[in-house]
Amino acid sequence: MSDATIEVYENEARRFPPPEAFAAGALVSDRSLYEEAEADYEAFWARQARELLTWNQDFDTTLVWDLPFAQWFVGGKLNVSENCLDRHVAAGRADKVAYHWEGEPGDTRTITYGQLLSDVEKFANVLKGFGLAAGDRVAIYLPMIPELPVAMLACTRIGVAHSVIFGGFSPTSIVDRCDDAEAKLIITADAGWRRGAPSGLKSAVDTALADGAPTVEHVIVVNRCDTDPTMVDGRDHWWHDLMAGADDHCPPVPLDSEQLLYLLYTSGTTAKPKGIMHTTGGYLTQVAFTHKYVFDLRPDTDVYWCAADIGWVTGHSYIVYGPLANGATSVMYEGTPDTPRETERHGDRSAWTKDRLWDIIERYGVTQLYTAPTAIRTFMKWGVQWPDGHDLSSLRVLGTVGEPINPEAWMWYHEHIGGRSCPIVDTWWQTETGSHMISPLPGVTTTIPGTATTPVPGVFAEVVDQQGNTVDVGGGYLTITRPWPAMLRGIWGDPQRYFETYWSEYPGRYFAGDGARVDEEGNIWILGRTDDVMNVSGHRISTSEIESALVDHAAVAEAAVVGANDEVTGQAIIGYVILIGGFDDSPELREEIRQHVATKLGPIARPKAVNVTPDLPKTRSGKIMRRLLRQIAQGEEIGDTTTLADPSVVDALRASAE
Ligand code: WT7
Repeated sequence: MSDATIEVYENEARRFPPPEAFAAGALVSDRSLYEEAEADYEAFWARQARELLTWNQDFDTTLVWDLPFAQWFVGGKLNVSENCLDRHVAAGRADKVAYHWEGEPGDTRTITYGQLLSDVEKFANVLKGFGLAAGDRVAIYLPMIPELPVAMLACTRIGVAHSVIFGGFSPTSIVDRCDDAEAKLIITADAGWRRGAPSGLKSAVDTALADGAPTVEHVIVVNRCDTDPTMVDGRDHWWHDLMAGADDHCPPVPLDSEQLLYLLYTSGTTAKPKGIMHTTGGYLTQVAFTHKYVFDLRPDTDVYWCAADIGWVTGHSYIVYGPLANGATSVMYEGTPDTPRETERHGDRSAWTKDRLWDIIERYGVTQLYTAPTAIRTFMKWGVQWPDGHDLSSLRVLGTVGEPINPEAWMWYHEHIGGRSCPIVDTWWQTETGSHMISPLPGVTTTIPGTATTPVPGVFAEVVDQQGNTVDVGGGYLTITRPWPAMLRGIWGDPQRYFETYWSEYPGRYFAGDGARVDEEGNIWILGRTDDVMNVSGHRISTSEIESALVDHAAVAEAAVVGANDEVTGQAIIGYVILIGGFDDSPELREEIRQHVATKLGPIARPKAVNVTPDLPKTRSGKIMRRLLRQIAQGEEIGDTTTLADPSVVDALRASAE
């Protein structure tokens, strides 16, 4: 990120103190939580753990910290599904709605806490029937349907760790993740609805299992779209058949606070995704805490909507675990924002209305909306003003996550969606942090477009320079200085990589991989990744993952990938490839190479463009100069090229990008 960009951010910045009326009614309207946490952060988190959660056995030690390994609430025992379901039902809230679910075609299901508990108990018994027990891992590859939280919670009920694989990922990704985690079972669906048509999932699982993932013994299939998938005798089982025969009583198993809750794979600087490990007590404490205070939750009256996919950490923490732990009512939606209900589709796709989001907000009376900047920029592009005449006045708090939000998009969100009366919480966090880390608190924090402001109570962040010295005002690298309850406990099967990736760059500190700037008032402005990781529509994809997929194509000898700025998606993937002798450049070949990446990794990884070049810009030591490729992709002035082994390569690259 250039200095010019930083200046633009700050010049455009306007401040929004919490509206008076809002501050007066907010859950917190003073700095007491911050003060308490600053005075004794362990005692602060211990209080949150005991107040927000129900423990089967109280913990005796709040934190054991042996860098880089943390244990929170040691000696404590609890069960996540019991905290998310049983205790609400026991308190007389069996009929309270947990999810207003809406399928993409417009079919709906209202799921109460009582029904959710009953389904979770049954499905936990189904899992037990397959011999699964505490310590095992299962993979979940489902669309955004109620069976997805049911499957996750059923795992937590008996101590099985889940590994949710995003429905947009490919068979290769399924194999890699199942192999790494040695998953014994996969839960999937025939298909999910996507942009007006069923999008197959079971077929991807079949391809994956034909090729590999030998540890997987059984597949459970939800019938979502009636697409009649092939069922392998003895291996594949229908969800509805198993549930029909399952007992609906399954007591929750009290589990150690540090029991593995789930694995979630995320991209890093190498081609191999990392299995991020999250455990039980600390994770649930911090997601419940942040879900309550960052969204100013009033569980009795709010209808909260996080419009992410459960395949990412945002959905794990803020569609499933945080909201359910807090007994909230949520909206859960299967499809894309530009797909109207089936009854409202007229003519061809291009004529379809694009007001699905506003329609959902209005019909359910949504009070909190949590989404990504890329979605907001898409709405701006559609030219929506006060959204199509829908009444959005039920909204109280707006949230954003996944990438830096440009002040223009922030202002648009504030005016057109929020009607100028909703605080916007810009939440910075990561798959690894498990939970919000830097965010305003509505009612307390003055918000400024473009900054996530300051760490939430109990979290401690600092920006440092290259040598690791604290930067009080200015730019540098974002680090976290103390352990936090929802922090990753490691990378599955690779403790060394865990230490090296996060704890070795700046001794004693967690390094997030993001560049950041602190202003005079201590607000943190996240500037984006500083490593070879791209952020496409709020999701991390590593350059090397895509490079491996590119060179896997029969015509590609060498490849380099960069993220170029993109108005809607934040960054767009641009590939540069050298062809193997005998292959000729053509639009068809480039298209085939793009498709090859999508097939290997999934559609989100498809490069926006693949340019064929005779050579790549390398230093004399053989390192690819990505900065140069990025500048070319963005049509920018090219900086210093004196370290290039062959400076003439620049002209060839320019020609290929045109
Ligand atoms: C990376 C983490 C956390 C859920 C979604 C992404 C970027 C995240 C913000 C924000 C600026 C942000 C960072 C971070 N990021 N939130 N509010 N402002 N950048 O999770 O895939 O683990 O990616 O997303 O670069 O490191 P993830």
